[in-house]
Amino acid sequence: MKTGETGRWRPRQRQRPKKKHTEVSLGRWVLGNSEVASTGIALQNILDARSIAITDDGRGVAQELAKALGSHARVVSETPADADAVIFLGGLKKFKDGEAAAAVNREAFLAAKSFSSNLPEDGGVFVTVQDTGGAFGLTSAPVGVSAWASGLPGLIKTAYREWPQTAVKAIDIEMGKRSAKAVAAALLEELHFGGSALEVGLAQDGTRREPVLEMQQHRADGKKSAGLAPGSVVLVSGGARGVTASTLIEWSRELKLRFVLLGRTSQKKEPLETQGAATDAEIKKALLQKALAAGEKVTPKDLMAASKKILAEREIAATLAAIEANGSDAAYYPVDVQDAVSVSHALETVRKKWGPVAAIVHGAGTLEDKLIADKTPEMFDFVFNTKVSGLRALLTATESDPIEAIVLFSSVAGRYGNVGQSDYAMANEVLNKLAREEAKRRKSCLVRSLNWGPWDGGMVTPALRGHFEKLGVALIGLDAGARFMVEELNERSLDDIEVVIGGNTIEPDMSAREGQAERVYDIIVDPAKYGMLESHKIRGKVVVPFVLALDWFQRIAGPAGLSDIQMLKGISGDCKRLRLIVRGETLQLQSVDGTPHYRAVMGPAETDKRIAAPTGLQPSGIKDAYKGKLLFHGPAFHVIASELQISEDALSAELKAPKPAHWKHSRVVTPAAFLDGGLQMGILLGAHVIGKRVLPTRAGQFILYTREIPERVTCSLRVNKKNDSGLVYDVLLSSNDGTPVAAALAVEATAVPNEPSVSLLPRGKVGAK
Ligand SMILES: NC(=O)c1ccc[n+]([C@@H]2O[C@H](COP(=O)([O-])OP(=O)(O)OC[C@H]3O[C@@H](n4cnc5c(N)ncnc54)[C@H](OP(=O)(O)O)[C@@H]3O)[C@@H](O)[C@H]2O)c1
Repeated sequence: MKTGETGRWRPRQRQRPKKKHTEVSLGRWVLGNSEVASTGIALQNILDARSIAITDDGRGVAQELAKALGSHARVVSETPADADAVIFLGGLKKFKDGEAAAAVNREAFLAAKSFSSNLPEDGGVFVTVQDTGGAFGLTSAPVGVSAWASGLPGLIKTAYREWPQTAVKAIDIEMGKRSAKAVAAALLEELHFGGSALEVGLAQDGTRREPVLEMQQHRADGKKSAGLAPGSVVLVSGGARGVTASTLIEWSRELKLRFVLLGRTSQKKEPLETQGAATDAEIKKALLQKALAAGEKVTPKDLMAASKKILAEREIAATLAAIEANGSDAAYYPVDVQDAVSVSHALETVRKKWGPVAAIVHGAGTLEDKLIADKTPEMFDFVFNTKVSGLRALLTATESDPIEAIVLFSSVAGRYGNVGQSDYAMANEVLNKLAREEAKRRKSCLVRSLNWGPWDGGMVTPALRGHFEKLGVALIGLDAGARFMVEELNERSLDDIEVVIGGNTIEPDMSAREGQAERVYDIIVDPAKYGMLESHKIRGKVVVPFVLALDWFQRIAGPAGLSDIQMLKGISGDCKRLRLIVRGETLQLQSVDGTPHYRAVMGPAETDKRIAAPTGLQPSGIKDAYKGKLLFHGPAFHVIASELQISEDALSAELKAPKPAHWKHSRVVTPAAFLDGGLQMGILLGAHVIGKRVLPTRAGQFILYTREIPERVTCSLRVNKKNDSGLVYDVLLSSNDGTPVAAALAVEATAVPNEPSVSLLPRGKVGAK
């Protein structure tokens, strides 16, 4: 089930693109972001953390944040063993160059590794903070060298999967011209009210953004092959083998190009003895026989390495031959892409022979999968640097070349994180953001960071393939992926920079986190955030309204919907903190001492269920519902804006949104003020049909049809059941053209005991003109 707090980041699964060139149809999602108000719920575990370690940013934010968080927070240079919350501020540092910025990714990994060796019982908190413009590079303003520090969200998204109990969050905050104190205040606000969103961008102007993936098919009416002329030189790291090689072979069929392929494997003439051997086993057998004949000692490890090398060399030769057979040229250089000097030397030769470089493809990549706790710094360096230092070397070596296209082979692991792949996810995130920076710098250059889902080839070994098959993840076929890459280069839009590509599903397996027996969320009931509370007083005392409890539940339930929402005990306005507990499908809002206040069940969503509005209503003559004595609500809840329409068992009126001043910090996700208007009309309906003052205690179901809440709605109520002690009614909110907005069904309202009888209309009147 997709729920609100944990499900928001997932790509919208819309209709699949039509199959074009191959049997496998691939989805294409482009990363953007959208403005999202914070949820009002604290990051899990943060309010109860007893030892919060904040790493020093060198700009004073750590000290200010420690002050704001209180005595249990301290500034540290290394993650202490006893910390149950770590806030890594390394990404806020002022970096002298890209290399220094890239080194922060390693620091963050080491902080996470140290934290994971001593994970607190409740999972604790791990947060990273960076300043890459407050929108993860997604605005048009250049981010500068800090873009090299952009791998932190890759760590967070991996930690999210490896540590199912830990509350994690990656924040990109634009420091701009703000003081350290103001930045710390904005961070505290996000920690206390920003909920569980994994990636949050906070701009200086107060805008809060979260990444969103939008499905976007190719619009192939742009320049072919990014506008490259025939004979252009394309520099490709890792292009002689694996999936990158497949894409080049397809591309070489489309346009005659000159490919410069870099890889670590050296090219030697294959020994005569193995030339007839086709498979790994046959090669090893031939090598063993050769060694035995020569009286040499050979270990299985030696045989494995030698066979691997022969297969790699054959693959390189096959790639060169395939490209040449398609009419393009190809030259292979045995160069480690991280070695900037060797890359530059190779290019000097190339320029003399073929001319300047016109396009870059960075396909080099390596894996060393291990959990954060078990991964060594050396493993991290091997995986991270192949991609990140490799890209730096390619960009430096081509600084003076007229580059028209840059394609970086990134991975869904960067977008979603992946168990065992913190280094790889971080490196791919850096690639994603550097692609954005290159696109900002080179106005007419086509830049892509292709976040591939798993392919049926390359680094996906038979064991991994089996793993994906078990999860039901369709692999990208070599032909389909290769064709996709060529179509990406024909794509019209220069703005689709971070593109996620996958088969039938690219969503990671979330069962470990979602299957937890219990999740706990904390809510700070700060009167400054909930200005409307002052308008909700019963007998002079502030009471937290039913609709606010429903709104908090809705944040957790998201599209799953809510049913059986019960008020067990009203919440007094003196209550400063509430706890929302999720057990399976059950939600409970309770005090910190455990007193239950509200309960609800997630689901069923039923957003296609339609409720008919009552008909045959007449004007009641009541033009201002707040003039009578029935409603206790203050100005923040004055939403009934028209004369009441009435029949024997129904009511309707137009509702108008209240002044934003009362509601602006509360960030409700439901039309809470309108729903409260519905419950107010329930009080009027109670007076009308049973002559008693009633208050809502339970709702059978809440349906939110849309997140676009209009300024005015029509609210209709109809009685389902009534007796002396109360009534049951349905509330329907619809926009003025009749489109349903929300509904609360089977609302139970109970008569307040020991109160004199009341009436809505003068006795005997159903409607009054
Ligand atoms: N296969 C997938 O499912 C998948 C999914 C998402 C993203 N990707 C990305 O696609 C790219 C290619 O992956 P693949 O599956 O084809 O992997 P692969 O089969 O392991 O090939 C990796 C390629 O990178 C080269 N390489 C590695 N380190 C290098 C270095 N330091 N300098 C120069 N070349 C180096 C390798 O050549 P040498 O060994 O000769 O150096 C080889 O050509 C990678 O960037 C990967 O992250 C792949």
